Amino acid sequence: MHQDMGKDSLTITDNRTGKQYELPIEHETIRAMDLRQIKVNAGDFGLMTYDPAFLNTASCKSSITYIDGDKGILNYRGYAIEDLADHADFLEVAYLLLEGELPNPVERDAFVNEVKVHTFVHENVKQFMEGFRYDAHPMSVLISTIGALSSFYPEAKGSQEYAVRRLQIIRLLAKMPTIAAWSYRSSRGLPYVYPDNDLSYTGNFLSMIKRMSEPKYKPDPILERALDVLFILHADHEQNCSTNTMRNVGSSQADCYSAVTAAAAALYGPLHGGANEAVLKMLHSIGSKDKIPDYIRRVKAGEVRLMGFGHRVYKSYDPRAKAIKRLSEQVFEVTGKNPLLDIALELERIALEDDYFVSRSLYPNVDFYSGLIYEAMGFRTEYFTVLFALPRVAGWLAQWNELVQDPEQKIARPRQIYLGSARRPYPVKSAR
Ligand code: CMC
Repeated sequence: MHQDMGKDSLTITDNRTGKQYELPIEHETIRAMDLRQIKVNAGDFGLMTYDPAFLNTASCKSSITYIDGDKGILNYRGYAIEDLADHADFLEVAYLLLEGELPNPVERDAFVNEVKVHTFVHENVKQFMEGFRYDAHPMSVLISTIGALSSFYPEAKGSQEYAVRRLQIIRLLAKMPTIAAWSYRSSRGLPYVYPDNDLSYTGNFLSMIKRMSEPKYKPDPILERALDVLFILHADHEQNCSTNTMRNVGSSQADCYSAVTAAAAALYGPLHGGANEAVLKMLHSIGSKDKIPDYIRRVKAGEVRLMGFGHRVYKSYDPRAKAIKRLSEQVFEVTGKNPLLDIALELERIALEDDYFVSRSLYPNVDFYSGLIYEAMGFRTEYFTVLFALPRVAGWLAQWNELVQDPEQKIARPRQIYLGSARRPYPVKSAR
């Protein structure tokens, strides 16, 4: 029993024993470990919570990203995502996520230069990437290649000095566009283009994607800015499936290349970062506006999902989806309108009026419109998740950096409710 807890406490009566317990409430949360004192007898393990898929469990304290899912609010380090998308660039946002504050001009230039120093990869990485089958999915190539980086930087293993950790962070941020672009080139059978450090982070990425025989690639400033804004919008999203994976793997003191590999693998799934690819496949399969009612019928019958709709946390319009919808207008001015936009707009209109979606608070999420922009910019659907993973590395690394400095964190190790058979004798062969 805690003394003088006042109102910030929870009183629990265990009806099995009639005993009462008072648990402190801090940050609107009780500590799961405080439940372990609730026992039927001294030999009892103590009470646990059961929370499959972490619907109501805080796994960490974090100061990086804030989401209010009911109000549709997303902040990085206290700054509204809309303001960052309007005024910052991706590397400033990466710095903000990692360091906690926006860089001043001197810090910004130093950070940009640090990143530029590390954009090239070891030539063996290139050979490694050339070993994939011609039709390998770019996400498979990306995931495997990030994992391979771990073998180039053995100093990244185990607990580290801040300087060692920071060097790996810079390396990963810097090499992601190179590896991501090369995963694209390899899936198209195109020669790899080396980084051009005269260009911006996003401009260099576009150069490695698009450049052919021209001596210097000049990105279209509107498309370069649009992609940079998309990178900002995807940079972090607190404790989602892939970030939780990053923290889980990082908690064993595995190196950050291995942890990012695992996080990227989690992102690959169609319910997470793979949804943007799934949205485009869905829009192509619907094909025309007159087929929408039938698709909605199948969604409501539980046969298919409306990809790009719904979110575990947002129960209103995803603020990233709003920003992307606005951005799409600027992009389509340059690229021409994606013909699938009309199907997407009509799907959204019908869904937002339909009781099935309204009653379940299903709104467009970040993936609903992003694919339309990517497609208009010339990216194939199977490449979309790579475009999500590239900037999300900044968030994963910021979360990992926070984790390793958190004195309360240990190796992640959930409990289970065992429902299998009790110990039993091994049957002798003749009795089987
Ligand atoms: N289409 C149709 N019904 C849906 C959808 C959807 N997209 N999403 C949720 N529902 C229904 C679901 O069937 C359930 O209905 P009922 O209560 O009748 O069983 C109810 O809404 C609650 O769904 P849930 O699956 O319990 O919700 P969740 O929080 O576990 O899932 C989600 C969240 C994002 C996985 C889910 O909404 C989904 O599958 N959406 C489509 C995939 C997608 O767009 N993913 C991208 C998410 S945002 C970016 C990211 O995380 O990477």
